[in-house]
Amino acid sequence: MDIAYTLKKASERRNEQFRPEGQLSFGQLRTDHMFLIDYENSNWKNPRVVPYSNIPIAPGAISIHYGQSLFEGAKAFMHDDGEIYTFRIDKNAKRLNVSADILCMPSLDEEIQMKGVHALIDVDRLWFPLQEGASLYIRPFMFATEDSLGVHPSGKYIFCVILSPSGAYYPAGFTKPIKLLITKKFHRAVSGGTGAAKASGNYAASLKAGEFAKKFGASQVLFLDSENKYIEEAGAMNHFHVEKNGTVVIPEFTDTILKSITSESIIELQKEIGLKVVQKRVPLDAFIESVKSGDIVEAGGFGTAAVISPVGEYVFEDGSSITVGDGKVGKFAKQIYEYYVGVQTGKIKGPNGWLKKVKRNNLG
Ligand code: PLP
Ligand code: COI
Repeated sequence: MDIAYTLKKASERRNEQFRPEGQLSFGQLRTDHMFLIDYENSNWKNPRVVPYSNIPIAPGAISIHYGQSLFEGAKAFMHDDGEIYTFRIDKNAKRLNVSADILCMPSLDEEIQMKGVHALIDVDRLWFPLQEGASLYIRPFMFATEDSLGVHPSGKYIFCVILSPSGAYYPAGFTKPIKLLITKKFHRAVSGGTGAAKASGNYAASLKAGEFAKKFGASQVLFLDSENKYIEEAGAMNHFHVEKNGTVVIPEFTDTILKSITSESIIELQKEIGLKVVQKRVPLDAFIESVKSGDIVEAGGFGTAAVISPVGEYVFEDGSSITVGDGKVGKFAKQIYEYYVGVQTGKIKGPNGWLKKVKRNNLG
């Protein structure tokens, strides 16, 4: 499937490599273009790169009323050779189709998704932010456009990719551990629901929890399973903790946990990083006891946007709290972070196929 290009005039586009002044925030900026493809009559058609602009949508569109909407998050990095490389976007494309299946949305050929991402980055490559720790955040998403108030899967969709030159997700970056609130009040997902999908509605459902967490000085909630027995996720990240012997533990992927590509990558890289990584159910009570006793020395979250966010403290609604280790960024988190970011940025050789160079097509 060939991609059509309608590009902004050269005079309206970025004409030199982006060098942000001051610390770049996460997700605020956009580049000049976006990628679109439409679904109708059981077919995807009209793949195109066009100027970034509003998308007209019917007020009765099913995505607006019934939330048939999903998204992905990936990153591209500039290596020392000055070329831009996407990181494991084949995994994002696959997961998008898993989410689509959960939400009764159509799948989109993974090659087309990846081609769209690369075509867009190529056109907007001057937007890659030259700043330590910054990257080009890739946001593919799909939403239902059929104008219908009947509750049924839409017959029409748009798949779109936008780019955001971004700095660290948490403004303090990797230097300041976050706090999480342990509460039984909010749940992100229940078994048989959409927890394993990157469904937009899951994030809407997490907002109230996030606001509640802020009242206790925490950045998010530690999400538990619906019975409040097991640890599931750390806000919009997979949760992890590190035992005294250096073993990293990630909650087993169930249908209420998003299968994080960061977690999967760290599991695959465990030998190279030099740490054992295991997955199992993590009972909350045992976790709290082990943090108190010092048997758990570090904890945090894994995710594309945040990479690795150490958790220094877990707070409770009664105002009490427990500190993980010394509450600072631990040596294991540092070890993982440095290796993982090293692989992403091309400073450390990673497994074949994880990084794909964005070819220069010299368009526009
Ligand atoms: N869990 C949730 C709920 C998320 O929103 C994310 C973010 O993408 C993750 C985990 C981490 O997944 P990944 O590493 O693929 O970005
Ligand atoms: C990501 O890590 O890519 C996410 O999607 C998390 C968040 C920005 C919603």
